[in-house]
Amino acid sequence: MKLLGNMNLKNSELYIGDTSCSELAKKFDTPLFIIDEDDFREKIKSYKNSFKSKKIDSRVLYASKSMLNVYTAKIIAEEGLYIDVVSGGELYTVLKAKFPSERIYFHGNNKLYKELKFALDNNIGTIVIDNVQEIERIINILSGTDNKQKVLLRVNPGIDAHTHEYIKTTKLDSKFGESIFDENIFNIVNSIVENENLIFAGFHCHIGSQIFEKESFFKEAETMVEFMKTVEDKLDIKIPELNLGGGFGVYYTKEDNPFELGKFLNEYIEKIENYIDYYGVNLQTVDIEPGRSLICNSGSTLYTVGGVKETFGGKDYIFVDGGMTDNPRPALYQAKYEAILVNKANKKADNVYTIAGKCCESGDILIKDYKLPKAEIGDLLLIPSTGAYTYSMSSNYNRIERPAMVFVSREGEKLAVRRQTYEDLIREDVY
Ligand SMILES: Cc1ncc(COP(=O)(O)O)c(C=O)c1O
Repeated sequence: MKLLGNMNLKNSELYIGDTSCSELAKKFDTPLFIIDEDDFREKIKSYKNSFKSKKIDSRVLYASKSMLNVYTAKIIAEEGLYIDVVSGGELYTVLKAKFPSERIYFHGNNKLYKELKFALDNNIGTIVIDNVQEIERIINILSGTDNKQKVLLRVNPGIDAHTHEYIKTTKLDSKFGESIFDENIFNIVNSIVENENLIFAGFHCHIGSQIFEKESFFKEAETMVEFMKTVEDKLDIKIPELNLGGGFGVYYTKEDNPFELGKFLNEYIEKIENYIDYYGVNLQTVDIEPGRSLICNSGSTLYTVGGVKETFGGKDYIFVDGGMTDNPRPALYQAKYEAILVNKANKKADNVYTIAGKCCESGDILIKDYKLPKAEIGDLLLIPSTGAYTYSMSSNYNRIERPAMVFVSREGEKLAVRRQTYEDLIREDVY
């Protein structure tokens, strides 16, 4: 298994920085989400420093859907990033962290009336409009007031990045955004421009997730800048902002080959500057909104082995005390992971195991056919790269409690989310 961030081995045990994983298990129990906070903050800084231009403003938004709780939002605020939310619940969490409202972007293809009202009442910086009906909904709330809301329009530039079908979002029949190839797009933009309660700031697009081809992002940026030029000329307006979304691929297993992020971001911003000059647009601010590539590799999940089963069919299982409830990605889209037995980190890995969760579902398999040292009940198993789309997609299936989340850094440990209790599980039940 590849050691990521501040992971290191001491006396054949796995540590994150100076923190022993076995000690974390003793202190906080398992399953446990562990975030390498120093690594996370370093990534944020590297994003900010690398996606920088002398000619235009650049913004990095953290896509909070990838992993969010109040402590995470506080880190993002402290480090000076912007943030995007896609629901009233995410917005509520971010506001509870006292995140500056002008730095919040609100996404979503079906923002409810109450969510929009909540966002507008809290003066959030930018609403990213997904479709025509949403324009009506916002105008409905704002009409008759003097309020002016900055908005972007999400569009679909038809870039077909090579990624998993379920996380590909910009095919022409995608549920997100309005197509740039539809002639009606000019009428839609015009209806925003002409409304006195709306400030049309520009466009947003996002071409998918876990993308490894730089060219897809360059193509996206060029297509969008060219499109902006057409809109500026046709409607005789200046468009100041372009948000190019996230989607930068990360390492999960040896099959993944992510580009070096700092270098890529330098190259990306340079290309964008060139497109601006070449097409002669009035763009002043360019945004990106990574989620996975900011948090994924800083997060791991620690489990206790509760059983090792040799089946009659020849497959050997390791049973862990979590599974698809804390990480639905393998069951949902066959996501792959690596693993390590933290208390046997130096031992030879010559046993092939399938790592299964505890849910009553045969698809509750976290990793198939993976080589590990001989496992026994009580061993601790860590799966790295679980920072993104695990905790945020977790469930209480089988009424299993959600794990705790602890952030570890040079300064020590910080419990950010406490473990759910049985009492939490019946909290909403009316009886
Ligand atoms: C609109 C939008 N922006 C940003 C992201 C973040 O993508 P990633 O986590 O792959 O960087 C997503 C993810 O689906 C998205 O839908």
